[in-house]
Amino acid sequence: MEQNDIAQILITEEELQARIKELAAEISQAYAGKEPLLVSVLKGSIVFMADLIRQLTVPHAIDFMATSSYGAATETSGVVRILKDLDEPIEGLDVLIVEDIIDSGNTLDYLRNLLLARNPASLRIVTLLSKPSRREVDVPVDWVGFEIPNKFVIGYGLDYGERYRNLPFIGVLKSEVYNPDDGPVET
Ligand code: IMP
Ligand code: MG
Repeated sequence: MEQNDIAQILITEEELQARIKELAAEISQAYAGKEPLLVSVLKGSIVFMADLIRQLTVPHAIDFMATSSYGAATETSGVVRILKDLDEPIEGLDVLIVEDIIDSGNTLDYLRNLLLARNPASLRIVTLLSKPSRREVDVPVDWVGFEIPNKFVIGYGLDYGERYRNLPFIGVLKSEVYNPDDGPVET
């Protein structure tokens, strides 16, 4: 049972939903009279994206990009690769990148420069989570849901080895999930 792998709930479902409501209100206000394109960075941000757009009060379109991820490891490689690009050009559009988490900042820095080169009317970033202590590249972020400590988190779209994305909260895994030496693992 996946819930048994959780050492701690860092952000509850209620806290997530309340904060997303606030973010959506601020974003709707910032784009009043406009029709932004929200770009979700697959796969981690899909749950955040789905909840965020249902709280937006401005008309908007959505698109998706995929970058290379960690695989099953919990440390960033610093290497970013585009696995799936946007469906349409973004020239002249008001683009909002929707991310799950900023860790080193490498992914967003790369994406931001890539999209800026396509001449959008504007480019802003919203991330649900940020680990400020891990930052290697300083990326200008317009909205941050929660700043969290330097812990590997899962749930609400975030995975470890593709698992746990379905959990409705943000949690920290038990260390024995990464490290079988740390204790018995339930299967
Ligand atoms: P960055 O390039 O180091 O900023 O890493 C960003 C990406 O790494 C995110 O979009 C996530 O997919 C992944 N990531 C970073 N930290 C975590 C974490 O604590 N849990 C799950 N995925 C993470
Ligand atoms: Mg991931």
